[in-house]
Amino acid sequence: MIVTTKELFKEAYGKYAVGAYNINNLEQTIGLFRGNLAKINSNEEESDKSKTAPFIIQLSRGARKYTDKRYLEAMIRTSEEVFPEAIFAVHLDHGTEEACYDCIDSGFYSSVMIDASHEDFDKNIEITRRVVERAHDKGISVEAELGMLGGVEEDIEVSEEHACLTDPEQAVEFVERSGCDSLAVAIGTSHGAYKFQGSQGLHFDRIQQIQNLLPNFPLVMHGSSSVPQDWVERINAAGGTLPKTSGVNEDQYLPAAKLGVTKVNIDTDGRLIWCGVYRENFRDNPNDFDPRTPGKPFMAAYAEFILAKNIKLGSAGQLESVREAITQTA
Ligand code: G3H
Ligand code: 13P
Ligand code: ZN
Repeated sequence: MIVTTKELFKEAYGKYAVGAYNINNLEQTIGLFRGNLAKINSNEEESDKSKTAPFIIQLSRGARKYTDKRYLEAMIRTSEEVFPEAIFAVHLDHGTEEACYDCIDSGFYSSVMIDASHEDFDKNIEITRRVVERAHDKGISVEAELGMLGGVEEDIEVSEEHACLTDPEQAVEFVERSGCDSLAVAIGTSHGAYKFQGSQGLHFDRIQQIQNLLPNFPLVMHGSSSVPQDWVERINAAGGTLPKTSGVNEDQYLPAAKLGVTKVNIDTDGRLIWCGVYRENFRDNPNDFDPRTPGKPFMAAYAEFILAKNIKLGSAGQLESVREAITQTA
């Protein structure tokens, strides 16, 4: 069942964070559904309801351009049939105004992100407001962004010196004037695999200040991958040359969720797992050339990763209460 992010956030706010996972291909799509339904190795496995989770599928503009955006919709629609028990939102990640309108008009997306965070404050509000009006007419939720994360996202690279944390007072004004349903805030994370050199982490003081001024308003944390060291080592042991790096400490997800961080975006970790499984496969099976040989263990590894991540986010075990709340209000 496809629902809006607003419906998911209503249940999750202050208790847990909903995982928002980027996908690009079939194996990632299947692994994602299996992981959220705790069916690690096959579509038919019995789900353990203490582990099943609501989730958000994120499609970037890059993913929509990779082959043809219609494949993404077809894969997700088919997954809905194969996994009828799943409850999830379909969300455009880092949209331009044009991409937002394309998704709003498609009748498929339940949520869009308008990312005008590179514009000045008033222009960001103006663009976001236009997208909100058009999305809300169709019952679609809107995420906006205020502040600047470091790292690379889509085709924009922000250097660390230009990254800046979200100003709490500006956040209040932004939400009031734009009418957005959730706000991506810059709270110390950055996109990609190279987030922290040392032991830096989230700026909890800043999250707390934002929540004090915006109580009950869902915040979004981009750049939330934890960059698992075991996968970095596996990649390098199978021929990769990734430099030393670190990501977000997974034990910080839940404390952040209690302060209103209700959506946690993960893309890089999924890419690392893809890279590790495929590299190991080619190293270990040099005579094999069947695409299904690495595809099968990748789907299982990705599903396992999603389940473990949902446990850290606190969303594992919440699917049935979300179902109950959504069917009661329907
Ligand atoms: O924030 C950016 C996401 O990780 C999407 O990346 O544009 O390469 O698909 P992508
Ligand atoms: P990561 O690069 O940390 O996975 O962040 C992804 C993201 O924020 C997508 O919008
Ligand atoms: Zn992002």
